[in-house]
Amino acid sequence: MKQIDLFVHNIGSLITMRGSLKPKVGKEMSEIEMIAGGAIAVHQGRIAAIGPEEEVRAQIKGIPVLHELNAKGRLVTPGLIDPHTHLVHGGSREHELEWKRQGVPYLEILAKGGGIHYTVEQTRLASEEALYQKAKNSLDWMLKHGTTTIEAKSGYGLDTQTELKQLRVAKQLDQTHPVDIVSTFLGAHAVPKEYVMNRKGYVDLVIREMLPEVKRLGLANYCDVFCEEGVFSVEESRQILQQAMELGFGIKIHADEVEPLGGAELAGELGCISAEHLLASTENGLRKMRESGTIAVCLPATSFSLGLKRHAQARMMIDLGVPVALATDYNPGSSPTESLQIVMTLASVNLSMSPEEVLTAMTINAAHAIGRADSIGSLEIGKWADFVLYQATNLAYLPYHFGINHVDTVVKKGKIVVENGQIWEKYH
Ligand code: NIG
Ligand code: FE
Repeated sequence: MKQIDLFVHNIGSLITMRGSLKPKVGKEMSEIEMIAGGAIAVHQGRIAAIGPEEEVRAQIKGIPVLHELNAKGRLVTPGLIDPHTHLVHGGSREHELEWKRQGVPYLEILAKGGGIHYTVEQTRLASEEALYQKAKNSLDWMLKHGTTTIEAKSGYGLDTQTELKQLRVAKQLDQTHPVDIVSTFLGAHAVPKEYVMNRKGYVDLVIREMLPEVKRLGLANYCDVFCEEGVFSVEESRQILQQAMELGFGIKIHADEVEPLGGAELAGELGCISAEHLLASTENGLRKMRESGTIAVCLPATSFSLGLKRHAQARMMIDLGVPVALATDYNPGSSPTESLQIVMTLASVNLSMSPEEVLTAMTINAAHAIGRADSIGSLEIGKWADFVLYQATNLAYLPYHFGINHVDTVVKKGKIVVENGQIWEKYH
């Protein structure tokens, strides 16, 4: 190695998350490596050395260091990973607050042509440039809050052209913005208004036209379906996901968000990489997911924002040995937040997860949920140097002290992209 591009020293508490090739389950989720007085050396965007400061200094002795960063005793974690967002969409839905206040249920708003359908109209009308600028703004918020990689779903087009438009915007942002994006095709997010009398016609359109076109253009790695009462049935979801698998997509599912329809069971049967929401899942469904190694992506900001009394049973999942990840579900309806830090607090208070479990769920397990655990999710030699320095000295402080942004510095692929809580000029 000719040089160290970045050397970060004087780290008060360095959480590495290293040491596990598979998603963490059960007790492993709380067993995390914490190094007091740590350091990280970066070469060409990747971690070249990491550990107690004296050891790292010994390892890089004699190698010139280009840039040094004094962490001033701060807490450092791997970059946060958000494995479930609906990043690209038009408009916003603050008018729904009043309906929520009056107690109108989410699925009723949808059935009346509001909710997702409203956002579909806005997304169809928006230019690609407008969608890009709006999504970029959200990505900036995410980065400032410590998120370095996300998954982004389409699903507000519900026609081929608009679905492709959303996916192109995500691809362009992946290439231009420091935050990395893994794309998911969610054409089966709702049956669009023009197909209400012809559900089968829409399922056919997704299977015969949209999926092959998305594949041909290489615009998504995964396919997802909103499997829910009044949206897509278990049978329709099975058909779509099976076809997606045949075309070579990884598969995901929005399962049992409101009603226990059997989405978790289907995820287990098909071997989905992840099943998401799971508020209403049965123990049997969760057992099926454990057998298939499907990751449960819990979204506590959604149950909070929808004002639901029910929450995903994260403790039961962890006890059963189902790997748990956490995400924002950032979208304009059920979870309008970009911040994984608020999700930390909600997971702690409403899902009863410990700070260690929460961080595991937002780093290494989240990386597994989007198929990227070989390069991100933990700080170890050879992985991308994606990490966050907080204005905090210990992990529990993050979920405990909520509603503000704790992030001081973000390093993405070895580059300082956020400093003093602000994004570096050149990325604007
Ligand atoms: O994950 N449940 C389906 N999709 C989103 C909500 C989308 C919306 O309301 O716009 C979710 O909660
Ligand atoms: Fe979602």
